Amino acid sequence: MSSLDAAFDILQCPSCGAALAAADGGAGCANRHHFDRARQGYLGLRAAHKGKGAPASGDTVEMLEARERFQGQGFHDDIRAAVLAAVPGAEPAGAGSWLADLGGGTGWYAASILDARPDLRGVVLDASVPAVRIAARAHERLAAVSADVWTGIPLRDASVDVALRIFAPGSASEVRRILAPGGTAVVVVPDADHMRELGHGLKLLKVPAGKADEVAVSIPDAALVSREEVRSRVELTVEQALDAVFMGPNAFHQDRAKVAAVLEGWRAPISVTLAVTVLALRVP
Ligand SMILES: C[S@@+](CC[C@H](N)C(=O)[O-])C[C@H]1O[C@@H](n2cnc3c(N)ncnc32)[C@H](O)[C@@H]1O
Ligand SMILES: [Zn+2]
Repeated sequence: MSSLDAAFDILQCPSCGAALAAADGGAGCANRHHFDRARQGYLGLRAAHKGKGAPASGDTVEMLEARERFQGQGFHDDIRAAVLAAVPGAEPAGAGSWLADLGGGTGWYAASILDARPDLRGVVLDASVPAVRIAARAHERLAAVSADVWTGIPLRDASVDVALRIFAPGSASEVRRILAPGGTAVVVVPDADHMRELGHGLKLLKVPAGKADEVAVSIPDAALVSREEVRSRVELTVEQALDAVFMGPNAFHQDRAKVAAVLEGWRAPISVTLAVTVLALRVP
């Protein structure tokens, strides 16, 4: 069975919330909503919601390439290790459990967790079509779905055992809804000084302070089972610093050539703080 076929156990219609099943080369619900499965293997579940405007379109190809280069050079390896450590161990009879990576991009985190955890199946949900095209090929047990996780996560109530939200948006009430009893949300948020050096002289988006504290209490009935700060200082070339800026939402507000001109004036290597908090919240 393909990873996407397996995911029909947990997918729901983004328009009406009914269960989704495989239909006509894509997916359908009992209320005749139909969604296409793309040639590249992902299922397209981005749907317009009344009064909420167009679905989010997510990261561009240029942003994804910048993030792939940055991750590929090892700069996020210790964050990934902390995420893996925060995922609870397999239950004795845990085969068939689901992991959902919300705003999971290309599936970089999900695929490495599935490598380490043969008892899990996974699904990446991301608004970015180019991201889920890559995620669809990232792991044999990983399904990829394009979806706007802000307007509603197209997964059934109490259907997943692990929900990841890593540098990504998402609604705490929706995360709570999809978690199975005893399930865990693992959330990674940047700390206020994350990449702060790059903000000097560049008008970058500010990371608000206290994000981790907010996440820690965001699911009222969940217990905070772990909270780890992952901090390092890395030495970046101008190209790597550019990727650090343009792999995130600054890409929507900045011009790469202009930022490059500023960074060329700094003396490389550019020393940058990476500072994030990894939280694990477990529901009863
Ligand atoms: C900073 S990237 C992080 C990607 C991935 N979690 C990682 O750390 O490698 C944020 C991701 O959230 C996605 N995204 C933004 N808004 C979204 C939304 N409303 N629904 C689903 N995904 C969204 C973007 O397309 C992007 O892939
Ligand atoms: Zn429907």
